[in-house]
Amino acid sequence: MHHFPDGYAALVQGASRGIGLEVVRQLLSDERCGSVFATARRPDSQGLQALSKSEPDRLRCVYLDVTEPGSIESAATDVAAEVERLHLLFNVAGLLHDSAGMSPEKRLADISLESLEKGFRVNAFGPMLVSQAFFPLLKHSDRAVLANMSARVGSIEDNRLGGWYAYRCAKAAQNQFTRTLSVEAVRSARKLIVLALHPGTTDTGLSEPFQSGVPEGRLFSSQRSVTQLLQIIDQASIEDSGRFIAWDGQDIPW
Ligand SMILES: NC(=O)c1ccc[n+]([C@@H]2O[C@H](COP(=O)([O-])OP(=O)(O)OC[C@H]3O[C@@H](n4cnc5c(N)ncnc54)[C@H](OP(=O)(O)O)[C@@H]3O)[C@@H](O)[C@H]2O)c1
Repeated sequence: MHHFPDGYAALVQGASRGIGLEVVRQLLSDERCGSVFATARRPDSQGLQALSKSEPDRLRCVYLDVTEPGSIESAATDVAAEVERLHLLFNVAGLLHDSAGMSPEKRLADISLESLEKGFRVNAFGPMLVSQAFFPLLKHSDRAVLANMSARVGSIEDNRLGGWYAYRCAKAAQNQFTRTLSVEAVRSARKLIVLALHPGTTDTGLSEPFQSGVPEGRLFSSQRSVTQLLQIIDQASIEDSGRFIAWDGQDIPW
């Protein structure tokens, strides 16, 4: 990352596995990165613990469940006790299906309040509350980026296939939040670039049940997705704030 100051500090929210864990790994492989805060509801996950062992000085794993506002507040207090500035906040956690029976709806009849609530709590409310709690650390005179992990299926204009109600609607709500925050940041955090990002279909637990229909060559490894996204984050300028950007740098319509 060449466009953050030397020794920059990053926070990756949703870092226990999948894309978030790989973001942590790649940031730590950047010698210009001074510290990485990896938040997760399982900060003792195997992947994070392995990274902690090799990077005990630069990596801090912090408990944060986006559905528990108290955990967001205490994580923000802990991080603020260690750094005065964050240069990157990456909200990565997302939820499409779970082992308790949540799965993407095929039709209107499949909608349930329980799945809607779960989906919105993680995919929409989570990034909002986390951004709110860490915003003071992003308001400073250095270049900073707040990236929210969206998904192309959150685009209203691009929706041709239907289905996946809870996930689509929650990501669309997240997108509106990203855009709204980018407007506020122009007034209150003038060096902060606020982005919505789409990683492309990536080989993780989230996409695993839906990979059979992915065209040849379009299922990315986490390594590839993260390299592409970190390049977008590194190259983004203040004029890019408020954009919804795909892995290839192209705009996605809202
Ligand atoms: N993979 C894709 O093809 C794809 C495509 C488009 C967009 N995305 C987006 O990319 C992001 C990362 O997805 P992924 O593919 O890496 O998925 P994943 O492997 O399923 O990982 C999801 C992550 O979210 C965390 N999480 C879920 N609920 C949480 C909560 N209540 N509090 C804190 N963390 C929570 C999980 O933590 P636990 O380990 O504790 O469950 C895990 O670290 C998501 O926002 C997803 O919507 C992915």
